[in-house]
Amino acid sequence: MKTNIAIFASGSGSNAEAIFRHFKNHPSISIALVVSNNPQAGVLHRAEGYHIQCYVYQPEELTNGIMEKTLDAYNIHFLVLAGYLKKVPDVILKKYPNKIVNIHPALLPKFGGKGMYGLNVHKAVVAAGESVSGMTIHYINEQYDEGAIIEQYSVPVKKEDSPERVQQKVLELEHKYYAPCIEKLIQNGI
Ligand code: GRF
Repeated sequence: MKTNIAIFASGSGSNAEAIFRHFKNHPSISIALVVSNNPQAGVLHRAEGYHIQCYVYQPEELTNGIMEKTLDAYNIHFLVLAGYLKKVPDVILKKYPNKIVNIHPALLPKFGGKGMYGLNVHKAVVAAGESVSGMTIHYINEQYDEGAIIEQYSVPVKKEDSPERVQQKVLELEHKYYAPCIEKLIQNGI
């Protein structure tokens, strides 16, 4: 039996696509479902291209038991957040202890927390005059961006780099390292 992953994403889904590609034809791990709060999310089109089922939920489904039932229906063992902008409710956190990971486009604990998503993060990094940025893969707990860190990778930030350029460099790291990290976690029994 394969380990089934659900990817939670709210936006473009470039990380999700790197993960689809990595696990396509994988012998023991499968991307069984993409979950989104956003019916316009680009990730839904990307998933279609890989014949991956998508589920766009209504806000109340996070807490009325429907989300849990859906995850059970797809026999989901592990959750991967990839540009997911909503909070994971407590019932889901309890259902998947140490089995929910997120990626953040900065070197946590710096540049995390409220409002720190998308280009905001890279603007803050440039404004602070940082010479290094990067990405963090971490477990999700009740406090956003504060779960235990699993892996971090860094890139140099040059004086002339715009926030968009930093974002591009960090995304390259994300696409390269997120999927192999997920694979290691699952293969090592998490
Ligand atoms: C990434 O930078 C990721 O670190 C953050 O949200 C962004 C999602 O980008 N959590 P994409 O939707 O995967 O292209």
